[in-house]
Amino acid sequence: MTTAQQLNTQFGIDGQVVFRKDAGGLIVAEISNPQATASLCLQGAHLMAWQPKSQSLPVVWLSRDAKLAAGKSIRGGVPVCWPWFGAHAAESGFPAHGYARTVPWQVIESGTEPNGATRLTLRLLENEKTRAQWPHDARLELTVIVGETLRMELSTENTGESDFVISEALHTYFKISDIGAVRVSGLAGCDYWDKVGGSALNKQNGAISFTSETDRVYIDTAAECVIEDDQLKRRIRVAKSGSLSTVVWTPWTAKADRMGDMGQPDGWREMLCVESANAFENAVKVTAGAKHTLIVEYRAESL
Ligand code: BG6
Repeated sequence: MTTAQQLNTQFGIDGQVVFRKDAGGLIVAEISNPQATASLCLQGAHLMAWQPKSQSLPVVWLSRDAKLAAGKSIRGGVPVCWPWFGAHAAESGFPAHGYARTVPWQVIESGTEPNGATRLTLRLLENEKTRAQWPHDARLELTVIVGETLRMELSTENTGESDFVISEALHTYFKISDIGAVRVSGLAGCDYWDKVGGSALNKQNGAISFTSETDRVYIDTAAECVIEDDQLKRRIRVAKSGSLSTVVWTPWTAKADRMGDMGQPDGWREMLCVESANAFENAVKVTAGAKHTLIVEYRAESL
């Protein structure tokens, strides 16, 4: 395995990108520039933090009980769900949300954008272990551009001889004031699969507000969503392309208790997931030799 020192030699950018080994043995890239700070764990290409300098609080939420451990997903940040979203369609023993979020990725590039933002690209290729769960050849890459906005580009290239289908999500946890005080706009009129209490297809009426567990997969929507947070006096914009599903999730008390890593007793109240995805009927067929890219861009605006 490549060491933090080797990564610093090859991809470090003085002060802007520094790789370090975490106490649990995983390698984390710390990113800092005049516009923002961020950190990203190489396992799962998991962005754990992003805070633009314009904001006094983080925009991306990380549980205070988050653990960095080999083979385990980190609670909070931006898990990369791939090559399937949610439970595996046929194998109940396979991990929820696919394996990409729990295996090591390789850093392949770092750099500075013309506007001063910092860019880091990681890659995941198949190996014997991943092939046991998903028998295809693919080049998966995540480029993260850290600046006043956070841009993430997840590309799937089919490097094999036959077509395949993926579902996927950039499963972002956003820091909010309180789940009872925020609204999500941008999805009015959209159909959604309601995953709470079975799966039913419903239509969204107006903005979304939260009074209980909410776990919805909005389909056929490329719309920008906005988290309106009057208490924090800010608005978070979630813009995307190459994504036709948006997942909105809050676990509420009982599920958060069962999960056990949400920052008890009420850490779950200060986060909301708005996930840019391709799920259910929006799963994507990637033909042999073709490439599909899901792009998100997040922006925090003070009110
Ligand atoms: C959401 C799902 O995307 O992720 C929820 O819609 C799920 O059903 C949540 O509980 C968290 O998943 P996990 O596997 O990270 O605990």
